[in-house]
Amino acid sequence: MKKDIKHVEFVKSCKFPEDYPQRFIPEYAFIGRSNVGKSSLINMLVNRKGIAKISSTPGKTQLLNFFMVDEAWYLTDLPGYGYAKRSKKERESWDKMISKYLTGRPNLIDIFLLIDARHKPQEIDMRFMKNLAINQLPFTMVFTKTDKLKPEQLAVNLDTYLNEMSEEWEELPPYVVSSAQTGKGREELLKIIFEKNKLFGGD
Ligand code: GTP
Ligand code: MG
Repeated sequence: MKKDIKHVEFVKSCKFPEDYPQRFIPEYAFIGRSNVGKSSLINMLVNRKGIAKISSTPGKTQLLNFFMVDEAWYLTDLPGYGYAKRSKKERESWDKMISKYLTGRPNLIDIFLLIDARHKPQEIDMRFMKNLAINQLPFTMVFTKTDKLKPEQLAVNLDTYLNEMSEEWEELPPYVVSSAQTGKGREELLKIIFEKNKLFGGD
């Protein structure tokens, strides 16, 4: 039987580093524009509808939400960026919370950076990815909501995206094509996670 997830539990929501869960086990963060489908993807991945809160209005997830899977690794659902209705103060507070988290979490093994497959490359995502690279934070791009596109359109969009990235990136980051609706990409994401868990020294 293929390895799969057996158990998942919500650990806590918090903002400050002193409140993060304390076990030194591999951790994977989900980040991207507000409404891109982070919480939906987490639910799909762990096969638990509603464990991460989903909303059709952007800005639903406000704090860092930690989940523990099989007592062996953490997932973090992060609040999205680029939500237009946030005030400057709220945006600054988001920046602080996220940069503290991303740069101050030594067990953070990979960051899943979600991108809506329906859209052309967006400046805000490009900037975010550059910042990750500058901080030497490894990440995997995950194209979301691909069930909303015809296969030909998806192929064109991916091509456009990756071509535009190659103009600036010497080496493209790895990527996964996903849909929370159909489960597409689930196995691939789990494979990435299980392999990295192994490298971390786990099972
Ligand atoms: P914030 O927490 O506000 O940043 O949003 P989020 O990135 O967590 O997005 P969320 O998972 O809440 O999903 C936003 C909306 O997109 C919801 O209405 C979801 O049902 C929808 N959605 C998410 N993923 C998919 C997908 O793969 N396919 C389709 N068709 N809809 C999706
Ligand atoms: Mg969310």
